[in-house]
Amino acid sequence: MPMERNKTEDDITAEVLARFADTPEPRLRQIMLGLIKHLHAFVKEVELTEAEWFQAIEMLTKAGHISDDKRQEFILFSDTLGVSMVVDLISHRKPDGATESTVFGPFHRLNAPELPPGGNIAHLDEIGAPTLVSGRVLDLDGKPIAGALLDVWQAQTSGLYDSQDPGLHEMHMRGKFHTDAEGRYLVRTVRPVHYPIPSDGPVGAMLRATGRHPWRPAHVHFVVSADGYEPVTTHIFDRGDEYLGSDAVFAVKDSLICDFARHDGAGDDAARLGVKPPYYSTEFDFRLKPAAEQGDTVLDAQRRLAALGARAAE
Ligand code: BEZ
Ligand code: FE
Repeated sequence: MPMERNKTEDDITAEVLARFADTPEPRLRQIMLGLIKHLHAFVKEVELTEAEWFQAIEMLTKAGHISDDKRQEFILFSDTLGVSMVVDLISHRKPDGATESTVFGPFHRLNAPELPPGGNIAHLDEIGAPTLVSGRVLDLDGKPIAGALLDVWQAQTSGLYDSQDPGLHEMHMRGKFHTDAEGRYLVRTVRPVHYPIPSDGPVGAMLRATGRHPWRPAHVHFVVSADGYEPVTTHIFDRGDEYLGSDAVFAVKDSLICDFARHDGAGDDAARLGVKPPYYSTEFDFRLKPAAEQGDTVLDAQRRLAALGARAAE
């Protein structure tokens, strides 16, 4: 006689939880039990239909198909659902005086060119407003950090990153800069513009179906690292941008908003670098906290992510 199965929805949840209860690694056990509990509660709360369940499967399948080494639709889902920023905030809960972090995003590339102070990351951008971004990298006591690495990337004035631009076959709007003995850095670029996140995949379909816009406020990306300090992955944002209050990926933090000042006459740095007025400038000091662990902490962004992955897998 086959065993009679007459289970309720809650019986299924209890049985699935029990099946994971003996997971040997405590953290994995906690994560799996939490995931099942919330996933089942969500399905029961909205009374998910079979058609809706299949729509979700199709969306995830499309996300897989559209992702490759240049496109990561799953991260984009995480970003647009606010999950990336919740993880960011949990990871940096205690205010400690260090520069705040924000999302990494999908457009970093390995092997950006090493540039001298004042190097131009926007040499092919003929329509943007010339801009100088400068400041210092400091420790929590305000002491300059010499030789810190700033891995910088930014969208072109067209709104596209180099990797999204079919007409571009070289790196553009990227560079690695080092601080001088006083902890100073200087990046020549163009004023950042707001741009839409990629909307031709399932994330775009979700945004349209839910009446959301795809825009990110104007920003410049940085990963700043130095030997003996914790690296920070962050952006600086332009205070003048209309999307600061409605970033598609929820990544704006007040402490990262900068004023871009317009100059109609040449200043010292601009004259030396041949930047013709009118141009813009902004200043931002990065503050790094001491590294919790010993080891090589001067990492470009990709190696930093790989290191996070390695730590999670341990
Ligand atoms: C970015 O700023 O490059 C970005 C971040 C999250 C999602 C899409 C783009
Ligand atoms: Fe960006």
